[in-house]
Amino acid sequence: MNLPQIELNGLTATVPIVQGAMGIGVSGARLAAAVANEGGIGMISGVNVGYREPDFFNHTFEANLRALVSEIRKARQLAPKGIIGLNLLVAMNQYQELAKAAVDEGIDLIVSGAGLPLKLPGIVRGSKTRIAPIVSSGKASEIVLKYWDRHFDTTADMVVVEGTEAGGHLGYSPEILAGPNKPKLLDTVKEVIEAVKPFGEKFKKHIPVIAGGGIFDGSDIAKCIRAGADGVQMATRFVATDECDADRAYKEAYVNAKEEDIVIIKSPVGMPGRALNNAFIKRVAECGDDIKGCFSCLKGCNPKVAPYCISKALINAVTGKVDDGLIFVGSNVHRVKGIVPVRELIAELKNEAKAALAVC
Ligand SMILES: Cc1cc2nc3c(=O)[nH]c(=O)nc-3n(C[C@H](O)[C@H](O)[C@H](O)COP(=O)(O)O)c2cc1C
Repeated sequence: MNLPQIELNGLTATVPIVQGAMGIGVSGARLAAAVANEGGIGMISGVNVGYREPDFFNHTFEANLRALVSEIRKARQLAPKGIIGLNLLVAMNQYQELAKAAVDEGIDLIVSGAGLPLKLPGIVRGSKTRIAPIVSSGKASEIVLKYWDRHFDTTADMVVVEGTEAGGHLGYSPEILAGPNKPKLLDTVKEVIEAVKPFGEKFKKHIPVIAGGGIFDGSDIAKCIRAGADGVQMATRFVATDECDADRAYKEAYVNAKEEDIVIIKSPVGMPGRALNNAFIKRVAECGDDIKGCFSCLKGCNPKVAPYCISKALINAVTGKVDDGLIFVGSNVHRVKGIVPVRELIAELKNEAKAALAVC
């Protein structure tokens, strides 16, 4: 069996790896472009992308729009032939405006989760921008694709299945995550492939299904491909790269992480998330944190009751104040042993996956 390509409605990713988006600022233009240049799909995180702008605190909305345009242009400049996508959380207040700005910039793809991106086709209508929901079950993919079919007469260009082992916010309840019957990624992938099939048939196209969450090496990639996935989404491995947009201290926190440091937290957004149990998490678990000002970034977040400001915590982390910041991680972070160039990582993953696929 060969390593497949991802066919994305007129674009081809020669390496079946989507670099999972990481907010805030962990996956910006530099990382996305490096992955795209190696043949994968590079994803820019659209969550508070303007955090480095001088007026971010006073004019968050404008700063985000300006920075988004500049990140997309930078990625295009660095990877003129690569596939560059944008990730937006449905829970973001600025969702529509950022999506529109990205479409105007000619972004190749918008991938959207943390809620069901029901309105996305309306935003990209008339453009070449491809769209992909992130789902955690066959049922969720069916709901989204049924809605897109009925209301917009269209379907997805790709579907990302994010399993229980992913980093960041997770689409499962804390009980499921802690329980003995956690859904297995490959079972969910098969479920989603079945749910997506009728829509592919109706719209006469193949809808690639991408498996993500806890994928660490080429043999994991091979397992997903054998189970029927068209490719994988990987994030944690891409943090420990030279090109990752986070501060060196953030990358080192990954390299130094031990398995017992990984915890499931209840994020102020109301969803569970996987993170490092660092000094910050321990401190806010005990006494919370003062919230001074609010960026109004997320729909589900109420600063009056939230234990801390998640944006501030994520910005602290990405800018290197790791003891005062929230560091999201995937479940295999403790296996990360060093910081390498993206080219080296992708070559290694490709070789391992090819070798694993050749055996059978
Ligand atoms: C630091 C970090 C930040 C993340 N931020 C986002 C995000 O902003 N939006 C999103 O859809 N997924 C986010 N994720 C999830 C990843 O895109 C990806 O799907 C997942 O982590 C894959 O699992 P892996 O990290 O084990 O490879 C984040 C993950 C990490 C580790």
